[in-house]
Amino acid sequence: GEPIRVALLGCGTVGTEVVRLLTDQAADLTARVGAPVELTGIAVRRPNKHREVPAELLTTDAEALVASADVDVVVEVIGGIEPARTLLLAALRAGKSVVTANKALLAEHSGELFEAADASGADLYFEAAVAGAIPLLRPLRESLAGDRITRVMGIVNGTTNFILSGMDSTGAGYGETLEEATRLGYAEADPTADVDGFDAASKAAILASLAFHSRVTAADVHREGIASVSAADIAAAKALGRTVKLLAICERVSTDGAEGISVRVHPAMIPSSHPLAGVHGAFNAVFVEADAAGEMMFYGQGAGGAPTASAVLGDLVAVARNRVHQGRGPRESAYAALPVRPMGQT
Ligand code: HSE
Repeated sequence: GEPIRVALLGCGTVGTEVVRLLTDQAADLTARVGAPVELTGIAVRRPNKHREVPAELLTTDAEALVASADVDVVVEVIGGIEPARTLLLAALRAGKSVVTANKALLAEHSGELFEAADASGADLYFEAAVAGAIPLLRPLRESLAGDRITRVMGIVNGTTNFILSGMDSTGAGYGETLEEATRLGYAEADPTADVDGFDAASKAAILASLAFHSRVTAADVHREGIASVSAADIAAAKALGRTVKLLAICERVSTDGAEGISVRVHPAMIPSSHPLAGVHGAFNAVFVEADAAGEMMFYGQGAGGAPTASAVLGDLVAVARNRVHQGRGPRESAYAALPVRPMGQT
């Protein structure tokens, strides 16, 4: 078939791996999609900083690239709200499919993005936005679409899990373990978004929105980070046969017969025999419960260039295949509008 032409917005750690996989797997991707998948442009801020990708593809004009008649699919790995939001809304309104890894954007503006996608018939896929390489959002949106999900609970931040696992195995305190995580490159220079639970809260908002067909934003999520977890807390948990984990918990609740949802991020003491207690280091894992399916767990690498790019490529194959075969991905605009219950009112 006619080639599917792809614009890449951003070319950092994840973008570079996306370009590499697109190039290395070109023949396989063509077979899976039913047409060649071609990279037509890469929007970056400083072209001279990107010697690892073909120079002729680089541009600083992301707006023009998105608007180009030579682009069918837009892949966004810039991160942050703007300019990503404006660029992706423009792409969706023009009927272009979008693949994004942008958790902050989805956690804040999923409503307007879903509506723009549904109005034009474009696809919006964002597997890489939560738990990196782990196939999780598509199982929630598609594989479990005929079931009723009651709870999604997991470790969705690798940095904090690395710190808590480290404290658990060494008996060291929070401060020195954070320093070690920073030194090893697991924690960012500014670890606030991770250790204060903002990153996990964005991911919880996305998970709750999909699992319960509702609109949940990061601001709706009750959030508590790990900065006040002490060596003594970890030791006390151990003595009780428990392990401290930063959990994102999204569940259906019913108050006086009225259906709602509870969405929260906080450190929790879980039995050391629970599958989530055995998740160590920077790994992610998410436990899902559904009426008919029962319990299941998704486990793997939640961050990093190559793992995140794997999820982006999987989405790219799906949206490209949909275009070739006139299919459409899942729709999200007709949502159930379950209210988010404040903590203490569940
Ligand atoms: N800072 C995030 C983490 C990266 O530690 O899990 C992946 O979103």
